[in-house]
Amino acid sequence: TVVVLDFGGQYNQLIARRVRECNVYCEIYSYKTDIEKIKAMQPKGIIFTGGPNSCYTADAPTYTKEIFELGVPVLGICYGAQLMMHLLGGKVEKAPVREYGKIEVNVDTASRLFTDVSPKTICWMSHNDYISKQAPGFEICGWTNDCPVAAVQNVEKGLYALQFHPEVLHTKEGRKMLSNFVYNICGCSGDWKIDSFVEESIKNIREKVGNGKVLCALSGGVDSSVAAVLLSKAVGNQLTCVFVDHGLLRKNEGDEVEAVFGPEGPYNLNFIRVNAQERFYEKLKGVEEPERKRKIIGEEFIRVFEEEAKKIGAVDFLVQGTIYPDVVESGVGGESTVIKSHHNVGGLPDCVDFKEIIEPLRNLFKDEVRKAGLELGIPDYLVYRQPFPGPGLGIRIIGDITPEKVKMVQDADAIWREEIANAGWDKKVNQYFAALTNMRSVGVMGDERTYDYAVALRAVTTTDFMTAEFAEIPWEIIGKTTSRIVNEVKNVNRVLYDCTGKPPATIEFE
Ligand code: XMP
Repeated sequence: TVVVLDFGGQYNQLIARRVRECNVYCEIYSYKTDIEKIKAMQPKGIIFTGGPNSCYTADAPTYTKEIFELGVPVLGICYGAQLMMHLLGGKVEKAPVREYGKIEVNVDTASRLFTDVSPKTICWMSHNDYISKQAPGFEICGWTNDCPVAAVQNVEKGLYALQFHPEVLHTKEGRKMLSNFVYNICGCSGDWKIDSFVEESIKNIREKVGNGKVLCALSGGVDSSVAAVLLSKAVGNQLTCVFVDHGLLRKNEGDEVEAVFGPEGPYNLNFIRVNAQERFYEKLKGVEEPERKRKIIGEEFIRVFEEEAKKIGAVDFLVQGTIYPDVVESGVGGESTVIKSHHNVGGLPDCVDFKEIIEPLRNLFKDEVRKAGLELGIPDYLVYRQPFPGPGLGIRIIGDITPEKVKMVQDADAIWREEIANAGWDKKVNQYFAALTNMRSVGVMGDERTYDYAVALRAVTTTDFMTAEFAEIPWEIIGKTTSRIVNEVKNVNRVLYDCTGKPPATIEFE
Protein backbone atom coordinates (compact mmCIF):
# COMPACT_ATOMS: atom_id res chain seq x y z
CA THR A 1 0.00 0.00 0.00
CA VAL A 2 0.97 3.58 -0.66
CA VAL A 3 -0.60 6.15 1.66
CA VAL A 4 -1.48 9.57 0.30
CA LEU A 5 -1.63 12.12 3.11
CA ASP A 6 -4.10 14.79 2.13
CA PHE A 7 -3.32 18.43 2.92
CA GLY A 8 -6.33 19.81 1.07
CA GLY A 9 -5.05 20.20 -2.48
CA GLN A 10 -7.33 19.97 -5.48
CA TYR A 11 -5.46 17.17 -7.29
CA ASN A 12 -5.36 14.68 -4.43
CA GLN A 13 -7.63 12.10 -5.97
CA LEU A 14 -5.51 12.30 -9.09
CA ILE A 15 -2.41 11.31 -7.15
CA ALA A 16 -4.19 8.21 -5.88
CA ARG A 17 -5.38 7.40 -9.39
CA ARG A 18 -1.90 7.70 -10.87
CA VAL A 19 -0.48 5.39 -8.23
CA ARG A 20 -3.21 2.84 -8.90
CA GLU A 21 -2.49 3.12 -12.62
CA CYS A 22 0.91 1.68 -11.67
CA ASN A 23 -1.06 -1.27 -10.26
CA VAL A 24 -0.08 -0.28 -6.76
CA TYR A 25 -2.84 -0.09 -4.18
CA CYS A 26 -3.21 3.29 -2.60
CA GLU A 27 -5.51 5.12 -0.20
CA ILE A 28 -6.03 8.75 0.78
CA TYR A 29 -5.99 9.80 4.44
CA SER A 30 -6.41 13.19 6.03
CA TYR A 31 -3.30 14.84 7.49
CA LYS A 32 -5.19 14.59 10.79
CA THR A 33 -4.75 10.80 10.75
CA ASP A 34 -2.73 9.56 13.70
CA ILE A 35 0.75 8.33 12.84
CA GLU A 36 0.12 5.08 14.73
CA LYS A 37 -2.64 4.29 12.27
CA ILE A 38 -0.33 4.98 9.34
CA LYS A 39 2.37 2.80 10.88
CA ALA A 40 -0.08 -0.04 11.40
CA MET A 41 -0.80 -0.07 7.67
CA GLN A 42 2.87 -0.77 7.00
CA PRO A 43 2.88 1.34 3.85
CA LYS A 44 5.65 0.95 1.31
CA GLY A 45 5.54 4.64 0.52
CA ILE A 46 3.91 7.87 1.65
CA ILE A 47 2.96 10.85 -0.50
CA PHE A 48 2.24 14.32 0.91
CA THR A 49 -0.20 16.18 -1.33
CA GLY A 50 -0.43 19.83 -2.25
CA GLY A 51 -2.67 22.24 -0.38
CA PRO A 52 -3.82 25.84 -0.35
CA ASN A 53 -1.93 27.03 2.75
CA SER A 54 1.47 28.50 3.55
CA CYS A 55 3.35 26.04 5.73
CA TYR A 56 5.03 28.75 7.85
CA THR A 57 1.76 30.22 9.13
CA ALA A 58 0.57 29.22 12.58
CA ASP A 59 -2.61 27.35 11.71
CA ALA A 60 -1.35 25.61 8.55
CA PRO A 61 -1.87 21.84 8.30
CA THR A 62 1.17 19.98 9.44
CA TYR A 63 2.36 16.53 10.49
CA THR A 64 4.70 15.01 12.99
CA LYS A 65 8.36 14.86 11.91
CA GLU A 66 8.43 11.28 13.08
CA ILE A 67 6.92 10.30 9.74
CA PHE A 68 10.32 10.89 8.10
CA GLU A 69 12.00 8.49 10.52
CA LEU A 70 9.94 5.37 9.77
CA GLY A 71 12.30 4.16 7.09
CA VAL A 72 9.44 4.51 4.60
CA PRO A 73 10.10 6.67 1.51
CA VAL A 74 8.17 9.94 1.44
CA LEU A 75 7.41 12.06 -1.60
CA GLY A 76 6.24 15.62 -0.98
CA ILE A 77 4.34 17.39 -3.73
CA CYS A 78 3.96 21.21 -3.84
CA TYR A 79 2.65 22.12 -0.35
CA GLY A 80 3.81 18.66 0.75
CA ALA A 81 7.32 19.46 -0.53
CA GLN A 82 7.38 22.80 1.25
CA LEU A 83 6.12 21.25 4.46
CA MET A 84 8.80 18.56 4.34
CA MET A 85 11.51 21.21 3.95
CA HIS A 86 9.97 23.43 6.64
CA LEU A 87 9.77 20.56 9.14
CA LEU A 88 13.30 19.37 8.47
CA GLY A 89 15.02 22.75 8.77
CA GLY A 90 14.84 24.26 5.27
CA LYS A 91 13.36 27.62 4.41
CA VAL A 92 10.04 28.34 2.70
CA GLU A 93 8.85 31.84 1.90
CA LYS A 94 6.73 33.88 -0.46
CA ALA A 95 8.22 33.54 -3.93
CA PRO A 96 9.51 36.74 -5.57
CA VAL A 97 8.04 35.41 -8.83
CA ARG A 98 4.87 33.39 -8.64
CA GLU A 99 4.99 30.46 -11.05
CA TYR A 100 1.83 29.20 -12.69
CA GLY A 101 1.42 26.96 -15.71
CA LYS A 102 3.66 24.77 -17.83
CA ILE A 103 7.28 25.46 -17.05
CA GLU A 104 10.45 23.80 -18.28
CA VAL A 105 12.32 22.25 -15.37
CA ASN A 106 15.93 21.04 -15.45
CA VAL A 107 16.28 17.69 -13.72
CA ASP A 108 19.23 15.57 -12.71
CA THR A 109 18.58 12.30 -14.53
CA ALA A 110 20.95 10.50 -12.19
CA SER A 111 18.26 10.83 -9.49
CA ARG A 112 16.21 7.65 -9.11
CA LEU A 113 13.11 9.80 -9.26
CA PHE A 114 14.06 10.96 -12.75
CA THR A 115 15.30 7.74 -14.35
CA ASP A 116 14.36 7.85 -18.05
CA VAL A 117 13.06 11.41 -17.74
CA SER A 118 14.41 14.08 -20.15
CA PRO A 119 16.94 16.52 -18.64
CA LYS A 120 14.66 19.42 -19.57
CA THR A 121 11.04 18.50 -19.00
CA ILE A 122 7.75 20.41 -18.99
CA CYS A 123 6.11 20.45 -15.56
CA TRP A 124 2.96 21.98 -14.10
CA MET A 125 3.70 24.62 -11.49
CA SER A 126 1.15 26.39 -9.34
CA HIS A 127 2.56 28.04 -6.24
CA ASN A 128 2.90 31.34 -4.38
CA ASP A 129 5.50 30.11 -1.90
CA TYR A 130 8.78 28.50 -2.79
CA ILE A 131 11.60 26.64 -1.13
CA SER A 132 14.36 29.22 -0.83
CA LYS A 133 16.70 26.83 0.95
CA GLN A 134 16.55 23.07 1.14
CA ALA A 135 16.77 21.28 4.49
CA PRO A 136 20.16 19.97 5.66
CA GLY A 137 21.06 16.61 4.11
CA PHE A 138 19.10 17.30 0.92
CA GLU A 139 20.53 17.91 -2.52
CA ILE A 140 18.85 19.77 -5.36
CA CYS A 141 17.89 17.57 -8.31
CA GLY A 142 15.54 19.91 -10.20
CA TRP A 143 15.54 23.67 -10.80
CA THR A 144 14.24 26.53 -12.96
CA ASN A 145 15.36 30.16 -13.21
CA ASP A 146 12.66 31.37 -10.85
CA CYS A 147 12.59 28.30 -8.67
CA PRO A 148 16.07 27.21 -7.63
CA VAL A 149 14.67 24.27 -5.64
CA ALA A 150 12.10 22.57 -7.88
CA ALA A 151 13.13 19.07 -6.75
CA VAL A 152 15.23 17.85 -3.82
CA GLN A 153 16.21 14.51 -2.43
CA ASN A 154 17.78 12.85 0.56
CA VAL A 155 18.61 9.50 -1.00
CA GLU A 156 19.83 7.90 2.18
CA LYS A 157 16.56 8.59 3.99
CA GLY A 158 14.36 8.03 0.96
CA LEU A 159 12.89 11.53 1.11
CA TYR A 160 11.94 13.36 -2.09
CA ALA A 161 10.18 16.64 -2.72
CA LEU A 162 8.76 18.21 -5.88
CA GLN A 163 7.58 21.79 -6.16
CA PHE A 164 5.57 20.96 -9.30
CA HIS A 165 2.65 18.53 -9.76
CA PRO A 166 3.65 15.19 -11.33
CA GLU A 167 0.06 13.92 -11.06
CA VAL A 168 -1.48 16.29 -13.62
CA LEU A 169 -1.16 15.46 -17.27
CA HIS A 170 0.37 18.86 -18.08
CA THR A 171 3.50 17.50 -16.44
CA LYS A 172 4.63 15.58 -19.47
CA GLU A 173 6.70 12.93 -17.73
CA GLY A 174 4.87 13.04 -14.41
CA ARG A 175 3.61 9.46 -14.68
CA LYS A 176 7.16 8.30 -15.17
CA MET A 177 8.26 10.19 -12.05
CA LEU A 178 5.48 8.68 -9.94
CA SER A 179 6.14 5.20 -11.25
CA ASN A 180 9.86 5.71 -10.50
CA PHE A 181 8.86 6.62 -6.95
CA VAL A 182 6.60 3.64 -6.32
CA TYR A 183 8.72 1.03 -8.13
CA ASN A 184 12.37 2.16 -7.81
CA ILE A 185 12.23 3.98 -4.54
CA CYS A 186 9.42 2.28 -2.57
CA GLY A 187 10.01 -1.14 -4.14
CA CYS A 188 6.33 -1.80 -4.87
CA SER A 189 5.78 -4.77 -7.13
CA GLY A 190 2.85 -3.42 -9.13
CA ASP A 191 0.73 -6.55 -8.88
CA TRP A 192 -2.46 -4.94 -7.60
CA LYS A 193 -4.99 -5.68 -10.27
CA ILE A 194 -8.72 -5.62 -10.48
CA ASP A 195 -8.99 -9.42 -10.75
CA SER A 196 -7.18 -9.78 -7.44
CA PHE A 197 -9.58 -7.20 -6.00
CA VAL A 198 -12.55 -9.23 -7.19
CA GLU A 199 -11.17 -12.49 -5.83
CA GLU A 200 -10.25 -10.97 -2.52
CA SER A 201 -13.58 -9.17 -2.08
CA ILE A 202 -15.49 -12.37 -2.70
CA LYS A 203 -13.42 -14.12 -0.07
CA ASN A 204 -13.85 -11.29 2.45
CA ILE A 205 -17.58 -11.01 1.85
CA ARG A 206 -18.02 -14.76 2.39
CA GLU A 207 -16.16 -14.57 5.68
CA LYS A 208 -18.10 -11.57 6.84
CA VAL A 209 -21.56 -12.71 5.81
CA GLY A 210 -21.36 -16.37 6.82
CA ASN A 211 -24.91 -17.71 6.65
CA GLY A 212 -26.40 -14.22 6.98
CA LYS A 213 -29.09 -12.68 4.81
CA VAL A 214 -28.19 -9.78 2.56
CA LEU A 215 -30.40 -7.11 1.00
CA CYS A 216 -29.45 -4.88 -1.90
CA ALA A 217 -31.30 -2.05 -3.67
CA LEU A 218 -30.61 -2.40 -7.34
CA SER A 219 -31.07 0.59 -9.63
CA GLY A 220 -29.58 -0.86 -12.80
CA GLY A 221 -26.79 1.73 -12.65
CA VAL A 222 -23.16 0.65 -12.83
CA ASP A 223 -22.33 0.84 -9.14
CA SER A 224 -25.29 -1.01 -7.73
CA SER A 225 -25.06 -3.62 -10.51
CA VAL A 226 -21.42 -4.38 -9.83
CA ALA A 227 -22.05 -4.48 -6.08
CA ALA A 228 -24.96 -6.88 -6.57
CA VAL A 229 -23.04 -9.26 -8.82
CA LEU A 230 -20.07 -9.28 -6.48
CA LEU A 231 -22.37 -10.19 -3.59
CA SER A 232 -24.18 -12.83 -5.58
CA LYS A 233 -20.89 -14.49 -6.55
CA ALA A 234 -19.93 -14.50 -2.89
CA VAL A 235 -23.14 -15.61 -1.19
CA GLY A 236 -25.53 -16.68 -3.98
CA ASN A 237 -29.15 -16.80 -2.97
CA GLN A 238 -28.54 -15.47 0.51
CA LEU A 239 -28.77 -12.20 -1.43
CA THR A 240 -32.05 -10.52 -2.27
CA CYS A 241 -32.09 -7.61 -4.71
CA VAL A 242 -34.98 -5.21 -4.79
CA PHE A 243 -35.42 -3.27 -8.00
CA VAL A 244 -37.98 -0.49 -7.87
CA ASP A 245 -39.38 0.47 -11.27
CA HIS A 246 -40.70 3.97 -10.61
CA GLY A 247 -41.97 4.39 -14.15
CA LEU A 248 -39.38 7.06 -14.85
CA LEU A 249 -36.74 4.81 -16.36
CA ARG A 250 -35.53 4.94 -19.95
CA LYS A 251 -37.30 2.96 -22.61
CA ASN A 252 -37.14 -0.80 -21.92
CA GLU A 253 -34.74 -0.26 -19.03
CA GLY A 254 -36.84 -2.10 -16.47
CA ASP A 255 -36.98 -5.18 -18.67
CA GLU A 256 -33.27 -4.99 -19.41
CA VAL A 257 -32.43 -4.96 -15.71
CA GLU A 258 -34.79 -7.87 -15.12
CA ALA A 259 -33.26 -9.83 -18.00
CA VAL A 260 -29.84 -9.61 -16.40
CA PHE A 261 -30.71 -10.03 -12.72
CA GLY A 262 -34.02 -11.86 -12.85
CA PRO A 263 -34.64 -15.61 -12.89
CA GLU A 264 -33.77 -15.87 -16.60
CA GLY A 265 -30.40 -14.21 -16.04
CA PRO A 266 -27.08 -15.84 -15.14
CA TYR A 267 -27.05 -15.01 -11.44
CA ASN A 268 -28.32 -17.09 -8.62
CA LEU A 269 -29.98 -14.43 -6.50
CA ASN A 270 -33.46 -13.55 -5.32
CA PHE A 271 -34.67 -10.77 -7.55
CA ILE A 272 -37.72 -8.72 -6.72
CA ARG A 273 -38.99 -6.23 -9.26
CA VAL A 274 -41.52 -3.81 -7.84
CA ASN A 275 -43.71 -2.27 -10.50
CA ALA A 276 -44.56 0.93 -8.72
CA GLN A 277 -45.23 3.08 -11.78
CA GLU A 278 -48.83 3.88 -10.90
CA ARG A 279 -47.94 4.86 -7.35
CA PHE A 280 -45.33 7.33 -8.51
CA TYR A 281 -47.54 8.82 -11.22
CA GLU A 282 -50.33 9.23 -8.70
CA LYS A 283 -48.09 11.03 -6.20
CA LEU A 284 -46.64 13.26 -8.91
CA LYS A 285 -49.93 14.21 -10.48
CA GLY A 286 -50.11 17.96 -11.13
CA VAL A 287 -46.79 18.69 -9.37
CA GLU A 288 -44.71 21.16 -11.38
CA GLU A 289 -42.02 22.44 -9.07
CA PRO A 290 -38.67 20.66 -9.70
CA GLU A 291 -37.48 20.32 -6.12
CA ARG A 292 -40.90 19.12 -5.04
CA LYS A 293 -40.82 16.47 -7.77
CA ARG A 294 -37.37 15.32 -6.71
CA LYS A 295 -38.50 15.08 -3.11
CA ILE A 296 -41.63 13.12 -3.88
CA ILE A 297 -39.71 10.63 -6.00
CA GLY A 298 -37.02 10.20 -3.34
CA GLU A 299 -39.49 9.71 -0.51
CA GLU A 300 -41.76 7.39 -2.42
CA PHE A 301 -38.76 5.30 -3.41
CA ILE A 302 -37.80 4.79 0.19
CA ARG A 303 -41.35 3.94 1.14
CA VAL A 304 -41.64 1.29 -1.58
CA PHE A 305 -38.29 -0.17 -0.66
CA GLU A 306 -39.25 -0.33 3.00
CA GLU A 307 -42.46 -2.15 2.26
CA GLU A 308 -40.57 -4.78 0.30
CA ALA A 309 -37.92 -5.08 2.97
CA LYS A 310 -40.61 -5.67 5.60
CA LYS A 311 -41.96 -8.57 3.56
CA ILE A 312 -38.51 -10.15 3.61
CA GLY A 313 -38.19 -9.63 7.36
CA ALA A 314 -35.00 -9.01 9.26
CA VAL A 315 -31.79 -9.11 7.23
CA ASP A 316 -28.23 -9.09 8.48
CA PHE A 317 -26.59 -6.86 5.91
CA LEU A 318 -27.58 -4.03 3.61
CA VAL A 319 -25.45 -3.47 0.50
CA GLN A 320 -24.61 0.01 -0.76
CA GLY A 321 -22.85 0.89 -4.00
CA THR A 322 -20.76 3.70 -2.50
CA ILE A 323 -17.59 4.33 -4.48
CA TYR A 324 -14.34 6.05 -3.57
CA PRO A 325 -15.11 9.52 -4.95
CA ASP A 326 -18.31 9.52 -2.84
CA VAL A 327 -16.24 8.73 0.23
CA VAL A 328 -13.67 11.40 -0.47
CA GLU A 329 -16.17 13.99 -1.63
CA SER A 330 -18.27 13.57 1.46
CA GLY A 331 -15.16 14.47 3.42
CA VAL A 332 -14.65 11.07 5.04
CA GLY A 333 -11.42 10.00 3.40
CA GLY A 334 -9.62 13.19 2.75
CA GLU A 335 -9.51 16.90 3.32
CA SER A 336 -11.17 18.22 0.17
CA THR A 337 -14.33 20.22 0.72
CA VAL A 338 -17.75 18.74 0.01
CA ILE A 339 -18.53 19.40 -3.62
CA LYS A 340 -21.71 17.56 -4.38
CA SER A 341 -24.97 17.31 -2.56
CA HIS A 342 -26.97 15.51 -5.21
CA HIS A 343 -29.15 13.03 -3.52
CA ASN A 344 -29.15 9.64 -5.02
CA VAL A 345 -32.30 7.59 -4.91
CA GLY A 346 -29.98 4.75 -3.90
CA GLY A 347 -29.34 6.54 -0.58
CA LEU A 348 -31.27 4.33 1.75
CA PRO A 349 -33.43 4.22 4.83
CA ASP A 350 -32.03 3.57 8.24
CA CYS A 351 -35.41 2.22 9.25
CA VAL A 352 -34.99 -1.09 7.43
CA ASP A 353 -34.09 -3.75 9.92
CA PHE A 354 -30.46 -4.75 9.36
CA LYS A 355 -27.29 -5.12 11.40
CA GLU A 356 -24.53 -3.84 9.20
CA ILE A 357 -23.82 -2.11 5.91
CA ILE A 358 -21.57 -3.65 3.28
CA GLU A 359 -19.91 -1.32 0.79
CA PRO A 360 -17.80 -3.56 -1.44
CA LEU A 361 -16.80 -0.77 -3.87
CA ARG A 362 -15.89 1.76 -1.25
CA ASN A 363 -12.24 1.89 -2.31
CA LEU A 364 -12.67 1.94 -6.08
CA PHE A 365 -12.71 4.73 -8.62
CA LYS A 366 -15.41 4.70 -11.28
CA ASP A 367 -13.23 3.23 -14.01
CA GLU A 368 -12.07 0.54 -11.58
CA VAL A 369 -15.70 -0.28 -10.81
CA ARG A 370 -16.22 -0.72 -14.56
CA LYS A 371 -13.17 -2.97 -14.83
CA ALA A 372 -14.44 -5.05 -11.91
CA GLY A 373 -17.82 -5.26 -13.67
CA LEU A 374 -16.22 -6.62 -16.84
CA GLU A 375 -14.12 -9.03 -14.80
CA LEU A 376 -17.37 -10.27 -13.21
CA GLY A 377 -18.90 -10.82 -16.64
CA ILE A 378 -21.54 -8.08 -16.52
CA PRO A 379 -22.64 -7.09 -20.05
CA ASP A 380 -20.87 -4.11 -21.66
CA TYR A 381 -23.99 -2.03 -22.05
CA LEU A 382 -24.56 -2.11 -18.30
CA VAL A 383 -20.93 -1.51 -17.43
CA TYR A 384 -20.56 1.48 -19.75
CA ARG A 385 -23.95 2.94 -19.07
CA GLN A 386 -23.95 6.74 -18.93
CA PRO A 387 -24.96 8.40 -15.69
CA PHE A 388 -28.68 8.47 -15.06
CA PRO A 389 -30.14 10.53 -12.23
CA GLY A 390 -32.00 8.83 -9.40
CA PRO A 391 -35.22 10.79 -10.09
CA GLY A 392 -34.95 9.57 -13.67
CA LEU A 393 -37.09 11.04 -16.40
CA GLY A 394 -38.97 12.93 -13.70
CA ILE A 395 -36.42 15.73 -14.01
CA ARG A 396 -36.32 15.54 -17.82
CA ILE A 397 -39.99 16.40 -18.17
CA ILE A 398 -40.42 20.07 -17.44
CA GLY A 399 -43.57 20.74 -15.50
CA ASP A 400 -46.09 18.11 -14.46
CA ILE A 401 -45.59 14.45 -15.24
CA THR A 402 -48.11 12.23 -17.01
CA PRO A 403 -47.71 8.69 -18.37
CA GLU A 404 -48.18 10.10 -21.88
CA LYS A 405 -45.31 12.53 -21.42
CA VAL A 406 -43.11 9.77 -20.01
CA LYS A 407 -43.79 7.74 -23.14
CA MET A 408 -42.93 10.72 -25.37
CA VAL A 409 -39.62 11.40 -23.70
CA GLN A 410 -38.75 7.69 -23.58
CA ASP A 411 -39.34 7.27 -27.31
CA ALA A 412 -37.52 10.47 -28.29
CA ASP A 413 -34.61 9.59 -26.02
CA ALA A 414 -34.33 6.08 -27.45
CA ILE A 415 -34.13 7.48 -30.98
CA TRP A 416 -31.49 10.05 -30.01
CA ARG A 417 -29.39 7.42 -28.25
CA GLU A 418 -29.68 5.07 -31.19
CA GLU A 419 -28.61 7.71 -33.72
CA ILE A 420 -25.72 8.90 -31.57
CA ALA A 421 -24.49 5.33 -31.15
CA ASN A 422 -24.91 4.51 -34.86
CA ALA A 423 -22.79 7.51 -35.74
CA GLY A 424 -20.10 6.44 -33.25
CA TRP A 425 -20.57 9.55 -31.14
CA ASP A 426 -21.45 7.64 -27.97
CA LYS A 427 -17.73 7.32 -27.16
CA LYS A 428 -17.09 11.02 -27.75
CA VAL A 429 -19.72 12.51 -25.45
CA ASN A 430 -20.18 11.83 -21.76
CA GLN A 431 -23.90 12.26 -21.36
CA TYR A 432 -26.70 12.64 -23.87
CA PHE A 433 -30.47 12.40 -23.62
CA ALA A 434 -33.76 13.91 -24.70
CA ALA A 435 -35.96 16.06 -22.48
CA LEU A 436 -39.55 17.12 -22.91
CA THR A 437 -39.96 20.88 -22.73
CA ASN A 438 -43.30 22.01 -21.46
CA MET A 439 -43.72 24.10 -24.58
CA ARG A 440 -46.35 23.45 -27.22
CA SER A 441 -46.32 25.16 -30.56
CA VAL A 442 -48.08 25.17 -33.90
CA GLY A 443 -46.99 22.96 -36.73
CA VAL A 444 -48.36 21.42 -39.88
CA MET A 445 -48.56 17.72 -40.60
CA GLY A 446 -49.97 16.69 -44.01
CA ASP A 447 -52.62 19.34 -44.45
CA GLU A 448 -53.48 19.43 -40.78
CA ARG A 449 -52.60 22.02 -38.19
CA THR A 450 -50.90 20.54 -35.13
CA TYR A 451 -50.38 21.98 -31.67
CA ASP A 452 -47.84 19.72 -30.03
CA TYR A 453 -44.83 19.44 -27.74
CA ALA A 454 -41.18 20.34 -28.37
CA VAL A 455 -38.41 17.91 -27.44
CA ALA A 456 -34.94 19.19 -26.49
CA LEU A 457 -31.87 17.17 -27.34
CA ARG A 458 -28.90 17.43 -25.01
CA ALA A 459 -25.33 16.13 -25.37
CA VAL A 460 -22.38 17.26 -23.28
CA THR A 461 -18.71 16.58 -22.80
CA THR A 462 -17.30 16.75 -19.32
CA THR A 463 -14.70 15.13 -17.13
CA ASP A 464 -16.28 15.52 -13.73
CA PHE A 465 -19.92 16.55 -14.41
CA MET A 466 -19.34 19.65 -12.30
CA THR A 467 -18.81 21.71 -15.43
CA ALA A 468 -19.65 20.71 -18.99
CA GLU A 469 -19.59 21.92 -22.59
CA PHE A 470 -22.32 21.25 -25.11
CA ALA A 471 -21.15 18.74 -27.68
CA GLU A 472 -20.79 19.86 -31.27
CA ILE A 473 -22.73 16.99 -32.74
CA PRO A 474 -22.76 17.16 -36.57
CA TRP A 475 -25.96 18.66 -37.99
CA GLU A 476 -26.48 15.56 -40.07
CA ILE A 477 -27.02 13.46 -36.95
CA ILE A 478 -29.23 16.08 -35.33
CA GLY A 479 -31.22 16.40 -38.57
CA LYS A 480 -31.79 12.69 -38.90
CA THR A 481 -32.78 12.36 -35.26
CA THR A 482 -35.18 15.27 -35.62
CA SER A 483 -37.02 13.84 -38.57
CA ARG A 484 -37.28 10.45 -36.90
CA ILE A 485 -38.64 11.97 -33.68
CA VAL A 486 -41.31 14.09 -35.36
CA ASN A 487 -42.32 11.13 -37.50
CA GLU A 488 -42.21 8.37 -34.90
CA VAL A 489 -43.16 10.06 -31.64
CA LYS A 490 -46.78 11.01 -31.27
CA ASN A 491 -47.58 14.55 -30.09
CA VAL A 492 -44.13 15.96 -30.82
CA ASN A 493 -43.83 18.42 -33.71
CA ARG A 494 -40.61 20.29 -32.95
CA VAL A 495 -37.07 19.37 -31.87
CA LEU A 496 -34.52 21.78 -30.36
CA TYR A 497 -30.82 21.34 -29.65
CA ASP A 498 -29.48 22.67 -26.35
CA CYS A 499 -26.25 24.66 -26.88
CA THR A 500 -25.82 25.72 -23.25
CA GLY A 501 -22.82 24.77 -21.16
CA LYS A 502 -22.70 24.20 -17.42
CA PRO A 503 -22.53 26.81 -16.03
CA PRO A 504 -24.85 28.62 -16.59
CA ALA A 505 -27.20 25.69 -17.27
CA THR A 506 -27.02 22.36 -15.49
CA ILE A 507 -26.76 19.10 -17.37
CA GLU A 508 -30.24 18.00 -16.40
CA PHE A 509 -33.22 20.30 -16.99
CA GLU A 510 -34.51 20.37 -13.44
P1 XMP B 1 -26.55 18.55 -13.12
O1 XMP B 1 -27.92 18.51 -13.71
O2 XMP B 1 -26.55 19.01 -11.69
O3 XMP B 1 -26.07 17.04 -13.09
O4 XMP B 1 -25.58 19.32 -13.96
C1 XMP B 1 -24.75 16.61 -12.91
C2 XMP B 1 -24.71 15.10 -13.01
O5 XMP B 1 -25.42 14.50 -11.93
C3 XMP B 1 -26.51 13.73 -12.40
N1 XMP B 1 -27.64 13.97 -11.48
C4 XMP B 1 -28.03 13.13 -10.50
N2 XMP B 1 -27.59 11.90 -10.16
N3 XMP B 1 -29.20 11.77 -8.44
C5 XMP B 1 -28.17 11.23 -9.15
O6 XMP B 1 -27.78 10.10 -8.84
C6 XMP B 1 -29.71 13.01 -8.71
O7 XMP B 1 -30.63 13.48 -8.06
C7 XMP B 1 -29.10 13.70 -9.82
N4 XMP B 1 -29.31 14.91 -10.39
C8 XMP B 1 -28.42 15.05 -11.40
C9 XMP B 1 -26.76 14.22 -13.81
O8 XMP B 1 -27.35 13.20 -14.61
C10 XMP B 1 -25.37 14.56 -14.27
O9 XMP B 1 -24.65 13.43 -14.70
